[in-house]
Amino acid sequence: MWKCSVCNFIFEGEDAPDKCPKCGAPKEKYSRLEEAAEQKIAGARENNHLLMTSIDLLDELEAIGERGTEINLDPWCLGYFTKLKEQAKLLKQTSLAEIEVHVKKDKWG
Ligand SMILES: [Fe+2]
Repeated sequence: MWKCSVCNFIFEGEDAPDKCPKCGAPKEKYSRLEEAAEQKIAGARENNHLLMTSIDLLDELEAIGERGTEINLDPWCLGYFTKLKEQAKLLKQTSLAEIEVHVKKDKWG
């Protein structure tokens, strides 16, 4: 992996690109990442992908909870769907906040 010192673009390949695909900086602005940095980026990518996938699923759970409360079939189900909606929303918000932390702490990639 190679990193552009101008825009932080990560390029994967045997050699750095002649020109940065993102900002157009010349090859000299690229430096090769150490193995540990590459592993950190790979872990961050997978972790953040999992967070984003879980956020999509939590969106669906929140919508299920919303629909269940609208139907309001009986008290137990109303309680269940109300809790589902609230907890899905809370988990979604905490995941979004954690992604923001990762972006600011260079745990992205
Ligand atoms: Fe760049």
